[in-house]
Amino acid sequence: MAYSAKIGPSILSSDLACLGRECVRMMGCGADYLHLDVMDGHFVPNLTFGHPMVESLRKSVGPDPFFDMHMMVSRPEQWVKPMAAAGANQYTFHIESTTNPGNLIKEIRESGMKVGLAIKPGTTVEELAPWANQIDMALVMTVEPGFGGQKFMEDMMPKVSWLRNQFPSLDIEVDGGIGPDTIHKCAEAGANMIVSGSAVIGSDDPRSVISLLRTVVAEAIQKRSLDR
Ligand code: DX5
Ligand code: ZN
Repeated sequence: MAYSAKIGPSILSSDLACLGRECVRMMGCGADYLHLDVMDGHFVPNLTFGHPMVESLRKSVGPDPFFDMHMMVSRPEQWVKPMAAAGANQYTFHIESTTNPGNLIKEIRESGMKVGLAIKPGTTVEELAPWANQIDMALVMTVEPGFGGQKFMEDMMPKVSWLRNQFPSLDIEVDGGIGPDTIHKCAEAGANMIVSGSAVIGSDDPRSVISLLRTVVAEAIQKRSLDR
């Protein structure tokens, strides 16, 4: 089985004045990667940061932490090169935001980044499926993108199960409302990359939360491999 359990804190809910320090703290607490939410106030009704911030963060945290850029923007084509230059490792764009996913996938690869493809809650998994063999990761949103701290949508889990059955070695990420209370559903459905914002950042003990999330997912992966 090619995939493993990975936990990526979303630093959206941290103290944004201390972003560099927060990223370092999360890696020190055992995070496998960092999930960075880019919002343009158009694709979603909220505004965060762009590539200049990513460049500063890269300088602050050093070369090692893996940056998964969650691009909630209307023109994802526009930011591929600037994000690659800023030090992003993976460019995760929304299928709803482009008319030519194939070309964008190619451009991201040519820029040296991995490719993630995201779907909003209202988008069917069949729309993502034709691209699944060309991407590194599928992101199934478990809230409407735009804000941290929303309620987990359990009715997205059939999408995750379907993808896991169809693409047994694909990295599948879930994002929104995930913490100790909801992780079991995600793990059982077959997600292996877990984004967690408020549940990790807001905890007094982020290390324990990250470790718990990873254990639940790793156990589900092991169970699935034994069942095969
Ligand atoms: C929402 C973002 C998420 C968000 C997750 O649009 O994509 O990454 O920060 O935060 P929680 O875990 O608090 O839902
Ligand atoms: Zn996100």
